[in-house]
Amino acid sequence: MSVPVKIRRTTVPQIRARKGKEPIVSLTSYHAHTAAIVDKYADFILVGDSLGMVMHGMESTIGVTLDLMIMHGAAVVRGTQRALVVVDMPFGSYEESPAVAFRNAARVMKETGCGAVKLEGGTRMAETIRFLTERGIPVMAHIGLTPQSSHVMGGFKTQGRDQADWAKHEADAVAVTEAGAFALVLEGMVEPLAAKISKQIEIPTIGIGASAECDGQILVLEDMLGLNPTPPKFVKVYGDLGDGIERAVKSYAQEVKSRVFPSDKNTY
Ligand code: KIV
Repeated sequence: MSVPVKIRRTTVPQIRARKGKEPIVSLTSYHAHTAAIVDKYADFILVGDSLGMVMHGMESTIGVTLDLMIMHGAAVVRGTQRALVVVDMPFGSYEESPAVAFRNAARVMKETGCGAVKLEGGTRMAETIRFLTERGIPVMAHIGLTPQSSHVMGGFKTQGRDQADWAKHEADAVAVTEAGAFALVLEGMVEPLAAKISKQIEIPTIGIGASAECDGQILVLEDMLGLNPTPPKFVKVYGDLGDGIERAVKSYAQEVKSRVFPSDKNTY
């Protein structure tokens, strides 16, 4: 009798150890079927709060709830076997205090089975990152353009265009590293600043619109698949799923109208 081989998931220490080595591949995913495909190629999968906009048509990530993140996080964990699954903490679920952050992050870990959480913010979140990591919750940090603060930042703007701002971003990167984050997302950041931060800290930097100077890259899956009609400028689009889906739906509609029903054979 053959014993099924248990596939081991990529661990937080394995991602951490990739600093300066083979680039880390990552994509977002919010549902089981796409996650199963991404799982074959990604080192980690992020269940990002961008799901509010991508899956639920929200205007920003502000309205995303903890329950929504848990529902999609659990689906992605169920659909995958090998990638580390990281779930975003949504706006309002962690900023109030380290204790509130712990309670909510623990719920995310228990109810999804994910391996780590991600939260936005640098120096101001360092105490919370330390509180979580010391209590068994691995944290991926996220600085630069932080969409949950877009109202304060005045929109989605590339960070670091003015060199006078660099010290703040560098201090953020150092603070989250010292607090125990195992990796750091740099979003919407000019290349020389992303390069400087990546050299400065000992944890891997994961860029999104932050150049190839980072230790890895993440994209929103739907953006790179061609499902978003207006993807951000920095995104390379690798697929044409939007057109593909439209072609398929159009053929289906035409066939049904011509009474070529897919259920014609009456078998299930
Ligand atoms: O929510 C998300 O998808 C993210 C990535 C853009 C990093 O945070």
